Amino acid sequence: MLAQGVSLMLIGCGRHATRTYLPVLCDVGIGLRSIVVVDLAEQLPEIRSLLADRFGHLAARAAYVSVTGRDARLMSESSVLPPGIAEALDEARRQHSIDRVLICTAPDSHLAYADWALRRYLHILMEKPISAPMHLRTSVQAVGRVWSDYAYLHRLLIAQRRAQPDLVFNIMAQRRYHVGFQAVLGHIQQIADDHGVGVTAFQSLHSDGQWRPPFEMIAQDYHGYNSGHGKGLHSGYHAIDVTDRIVQLSQSHRLEPEVHANFVYPGDYLAAFAVRDQYGMLGQEVSEAEAERAEEELAGAQGVRYGEVSGHLSVAYRDPRGRKTSAGTVALLHDGVSQRGWAHAHKEDLYQNGRVRQESHYYASGPLQVIQVSANEGRERRQGNMRGDENSYDFVIDVYRNAAAMKGELPYQRLGIGELYRDRGLVMGDPMKDARRYALLDFFNCIGSGRTSSTSDYTSHESTVRILAKMYESALRQSDHSQYHRFDTAVAVPLPHSAP
Ligand SMILES: NC(=O)c1ccc[n+]([C@@H]2O[C@H](COP(=O)([O-])OP(=O)(O)OC[C@H]3O[C@@H](n4cnc5c(N)ncnc54)[C@H](O)[C@@H]3O)[C@@H](O)[C@H]2O)c1
Repeated sequence: MLAQGVSLMLIGCGRHATRTYLPVLCDVGIGLRSIVVVDLAEQLPEIRSLLADRFGHLAARAAYVSVTGRDARLMSESSVLPPGIAEALDEARRQHSIDRVLICTAPDSHLAYADWALRRYLHILMEKPISAPMHLRTSVQAVGRVWSDYAYLHRLLIAQRRAQPDLVFNIMAQRRYHVGFQAVLGHIQQIADDHGVGVTAFQSLHSDGQWRPPFEMIAQDYHGYNSGHGKGLHSGYHAIDVTDRIVQLSQSHRLEPEVHANFVYPGDYLAAFAVRDQYGMLGQEVSEAEAERAEEELAGAQGVRYGEVSGHLSVAYRDPRGRKTSAGTVALLHDGVSQRGWAHAHKEDLYQNGRVRQESHYYASGPLQVIQVSANEGRERRQGNMRGDENSYDFVIDVYRNAAAMKGELPYQRLGIGELYRDRGLVMGDPMKDARRYALLDFFNCIGSGRTSSTSDYTSHESTVRILAKMYESALRQSDHSQYHRFDTAVAVPLPHSAP
């Protein structure tokens, strides 16, 4: 529960904050004294009426700080806030005795807001990704920033913890809080503890089940491709993060990941599923000339290099002596099976356009154990007008153990998500929504009990970001866009993990 009299700042009150943060803050918000909402000036009228209509409890306690489009642009190009915005936030912070912030803007301003908050010793819960530099497909500098942006905040956090060791900085990585993934990790750690074998091989697949037809690929900014990145910095972050965490926590040493990436870009994708074929299935006539224009645009004719639709990663982990102790693949798909059957999107909304998520994971602990996870959303859930059953999210874990070598073990066991909730005395809603809620509560509990998070502290995202940086580096190496300069030495520089 929130402590009495908590005041917080919500920076960025868009789709995700509305779906995830506001309901939780309302639920447990009896003690919420005030909430300062920071957003773009043009969005604030809509946000005010949304709060009044749907979150009255919060509306009564809300104050607002508006950001101009010019300031938003400035902060997207810098690691610090423009002075005017910093002053406005400082004023709101003093007036409302703010000690914590939730950063939920588009990723291009995460860095500047986190920098502002850290320097004032404010506790932070921030959305993934850490940053999303423009032109990742083509620019060596942009790719370098995936790592350097992360490292900048990491060093600043460690420095600030010198004066305030319990300063909380968490990243919203809900799978780390998911009851199913926690059970998987528990089984894997048990084998590691009892027999000294961590994950030796893995295969993970995460599909968003979106169908983003070509004109939307060109025009849509929201979770778009037109800034030069795609799936990797959208939900790809979560898929990499959960795999990396399970592998790393199963081993006794910190491992260094090596990555080879194969990316499929929109121009490639049209070779597999042509413009007119797509729109034909979606019931919209598209002329040959229009199709050709879309193809040329997505192939980069106007100079925009669109980001990845999917990424297929081969990942190997080396121990401190350089030996590969674990290796596998991670497939990141935006384009697995979808439930979309209409040409015109309902707003720019990920969730109302037939998106159905599908995941599978395979983790082998040598010859002793294999765990297979199958997590699928939306058997019945056809979105838009046919909004379906929220509980149609399956999460099944099959555990195979070597019962001949490990006496007393079951050779096979199936764990259902309902059973796992029951075992922990929890009430199941939608497991992924529950996980986000647990992430928020962890943030509040950490602050309340004066400790940093053992689940999603900022510093525990280092290896995830190394993989992201190396993934974009690998993709860029294969492209014809730049003479490649080595920067992986920068990624390899060890970061401090506690105050010097
Ligand atoms: N954890 C998850 O599963 C999950 C799911 C969806 C989105 N996200 C992340 O949440 C973040 C927000 O995503 P979203 O879907 O809500 O996007 P959104 O575009 O709907 O919302 C972003 C909000 O931030 C505001 N904003 C943008 N720039 C700003 C700035 N400089 N200063 C103040 N406000 C600004 C926008 O006006 C908007 O209201 C992103 O980082 C995204 O990756 C995470």
